[in-house]
Amino acid sequence: LWLVLGIRRRQPGEPPVENGWIPYMGCALQFGANPLEFLRSRQKKYGHIFTCKIAGQFVHFLCDPFSYHSVIRQGRHLDWKKFHFAASVKAFGHESMDPSHGYTTENLHQTFLKTLQGGALPSLIENMMENLQSVMLQSNMLKSSSSEWEVDGIFAFCYKVMFESGYLTLFGKELDGDKTTARQQAQKALVLNALENYKEFDKIFPALVAGLPIHVFKSGYSARENLAKTMLHENLSKRTKISDLISLRMQLNDSLSSFNELSKARTHVAILWASQANTLPATFWTLFYLIRCPEALKAASEEVKKVFDSSNQKVDPKDPRLVLTREQLDNMPVLDSVIKEAMRLSSASLNVRVAKADFLLHLDNKESYLIRKDDVLALYPQMLHFDPEIFEDPLTYKHDRFLDENGQEKTCFYRGGRRLRYYYMPFGSGVTKCPGRFFAVHEIKQLLSLVLSYFDMELLDPGVKVPPLDQSRAGLGILQPTYDVDFKYRLKQQ
Ligand code: HEM
Repeated sequence: LWLVLGIRRRQPGEPPVENGWIPYMGCALQFGANPLEFLRSRQKKYGHIFTCKIAGQFVHFLCDPFSYHSVIRQGRHLDWKKFHFAASVKAFGHESMDPSHGYTTENLHQTFLKTLQGGALPSLIENMMENLQSVMLQSNMLKSSSSEWEVDGIFAFCYKVMFESGYLTLFGKELDGDKTTARQQAQKALVLNALENYKEFDKIFPALVAGLPIHVFKSGYSARENLAKTMLHENLSKRTKISDLISLRMQLNDSLSSFNELSKARTHVAILWASQANTLPATFWTLFYLIRCPEALKAASEEVKKVFDSSNQKVDPKDPRLVLTREQLDNMPVLDSVIKEAMRLSSASLNVRVAKADFLLHLDNKESYLIRKDDVLALYPQMLHFDPEIFEDPLTYKHDRFLDENGQEKTCFYRGGRRLRYYYMPFGSGVTKCPGRFFAVHEIKQLLSLVLSYFDMELLDPGVKVPPLDQSRAGLGILQPTYDVDFKYRLKQQ
């Protein structure tokens, strides 16, 4: 009977196990309703590690930050590929990118590192800065009279500005030769269409990762396929200023894979999603908390002004050519801290590995636990981010929380008097750590630098409450607000 019901009995040496009440689903509903509360209550009951059955899988949650390393370091017992490749196939519908399945020999991890980090960053930064300024200062974003306020939702504003700029930076522009208004309008329509399709698809993303088939969702499915059509190689190859990431991926799709054209296009949709799904809410939370906190706004504005002044740049919306080098972006500790603090408060990613074989997991307190082959090991860093021992008043926004007494990046955080190696993990960990994290932080800093230089911004309701996090996406990264918050902005009055 135990076997038929899929119930596990704890064997000697294994972590305590909770099967839940519902066959197959196990604890999935309780976990899904509020993961943080669920995990905290189980941690209280069982200690540093426990096992929960979630949708047919046995998941070991490791809650002791000093033991995180045993999961994060790339041990021979743990596999990260299985879960990631499978999730991508389920959501985007391309053939498997796992070389062991035989459709491609591309080492995707290497592709990402080569094209999103190091030498690839300066051109991403340069193109993003140009695109951000052209998008945020174009006529449909501003009233014709520059002294008039424009009202918008902060999330809606971030979607409009960040999506278009990020899309153009990665996927390039239509061939530039023909600069007629009609051509520009067609280009704009393409991006706006992509935005609508992206939003529609993004709505069903959590359900797809949970295993529901995409055909259940008619409009989500056609949104994904519409996006894929625009990313067929025959269409992408007509574009100019395509990023290294997309051009290398096109080349490797063509030379190393047996994917058909549609499957190739769907791999690009996956990259579009990865590049936007966390960045958009992260930008929202950063901007929202910043506008709401006068000291943060003042400190950030001063830092931005100093950087532009020191490189003799004039802020002129009629001739928008502000630039920031990688060195300048990497030397903005106040912006760094406001971004980190906003992400600390809104991030809910789940870090997952799968056991390749039965093995013994050693914890920091010298205890060891037996883990069975194919079981999942999971870290939920929101437990760190909201731990009052690590971050005093964890629910309160403190813009300078990540600054030390010299105003530089703070890296010393403690728990129980011991210094922590892991205290801030919105980008995941170890080998699966987000390869786009440097670009992500740069682009948010760029957006902040530009809005703080070009615009006056105010909340419509200065006393507005912080909107709750939309828990339906818990585990997937930065959570969205359950509703948007209105603000007004206008060109800075000279
Ligand atoms: C994967 C976070 C922006 C590209 C991930 C993961 C997280 C994450 C948590 C999964 C790590 C894991 O499974 O353990 C974020 C956050 C961002 C952001 C918080 C913004 C604030 C970006 C951007 C790009 C990007 C701008 C640019 C293309 C990717 C890719 C992967 C990934 C390609 C998959 C890596 C792989 O499976 O090997 N990101 N990300 N991300 N991210 Fe980001």
